[in-house]
Amino acid sequence: MSGPFGGRRIALGISGSIAAYKAADFASKLTQAGALVDVLLTKGALEFVTPLTFRSLTHRPVITDLFDINSPDAVEHVAIARDIAALIVAPATAQMITKVALGIADDPLSVTALATNAPLMVAPAMDAGMWDNAAVRAHIETLRERGALIAGPGRGRMASGLHGWGRLLETAELLGYAAMLLGRHGDLAGRTIVVSAGGTSEAIDPVRVITNRSSGKMGYAIAEAARNRGARVVLVTSAGLPDPVGMLVVRVESAAQMRDAVLDACDGADALIMAAAVADYRPAAARADKVKKEEAQELRIDLVRTPDILSEAPRDVVRVGFAAESRDLLANARAKVAKKQLDLIVANDITVPNAGFGAETNKVTLIDRDGNLDDLPLLPKYDVAMRLLDRVAALLSARVGKRPHAGHAH
Ligand code: C5P
Repeated sequence: MSGPFGGRRIALGISGSIAAYKAADFASKLTQAGALVDVLLTKGALEFVTPLTFRSLTHRPVITDLFDINSPDAVEHVAIARDIAALIVAPATAQMITKVALGIADDPLSVTALATNAPLMVAPAMDAGMWDNAAVRAHIETLRERGALIAGPGRGRMASGLHGWGRLLETAELLGYAAMLLGRHGDLAGRTIVVSAGGTSEAIDPVRVITNRSSGKMGYAIAEAARNRGARVVLVTSAGLPDPVGMLVVRVESAAQMRDAVLDACDGADALIMAAAVADYRPAAARADKVKKEEAQELRIDLVRTPDILSEAPRDVVRVGFAAESRDLLANARAKVAKKQLDLIVANDITVPNAGFGAETNKVTLIDRDGNLDDLPLLPKYDVAMRLLDRVAALLSARVGKRPHAGHAH
């Protein structure tokens, strides 16, 4: 299976918090994404959820008791510590965080944490106030210094009714951090990649805009795939999708705002991938007040060109453009590579079914500045993103004198 989790063996450690019920959804989504999930439950977790819940979702044995020598799973924890690609503790209680930080090993989860060399992700969950406790903070810092990825906690309402920091992150966020953890030493580690996504909105008046059908899905897939290969990502977006974790998200609306944000982010970046559908025209002047239909029977809006962001981007950044066309795809795309002086263009035939705007899949041809074509089949947008990033990684390593920044950490 493709994607960041296909065939990866992940130990999911669950400690005793009411948020343990959310871990069932996380275990299920990881399994659906192709991961082999070995669940470790502490005694505290068993008060909230059952082994059967997780065995049913993961189709794998669940480890609950290290010391029951009659259990076939009892010796398994040693093998698990050796074979896993990552250990994820979600939810991680204040007590479990303390144990792992101090190296106390007295339950299957803390033993595995001590025994494994696999990268560690810790997703804290605790009642309001506990997260601010100096002891908890000190142990979290210890884990972070040792290289653990700390995912959350989020802010909001706790089961106790209190509000504050301490909520376990949502499944989608946990999945994002887990994918980032698995790929943190990937081929884009130490690189900064700027990605733009979504269609811009150009104001007519305070209420109305001119926009286009771009959903932002292709750009988000590229940003997430780059993050999952170790890159530091800046996502400049005008799309309405939720913020992906593990990257800097800059929200903009208009082409002018996108230009400023993208050019800012390009300072010191290695690559710019412009997946956004930037408006080519905007109303010459946005009206200060709402246009009333009583004003006139007909309304004319003067449009002026927007600045071309790609053409303005610094030349020492690898620049990738998109060409969404409904006809003469390759000829138009080739002309754009030359005109905008691009390193690569993603030619996107928007007339193909299940490709382009709003779709989950895309059908593209990659064209480089020498005119070489790479005609990709219809693929999920994440897979298109990975194929595109293969080319970006190759372009980056071919550049002389620009090496990844050493010692980069998220
Ligand atoms: O010229 P055209 O708009 O078809 O080119 C598309 C590519 O150029 C896309 O990558 C798009 O993000 C980028 N673009 C830009 N600035 C604009 C318009 C498009 O960077 N004003």
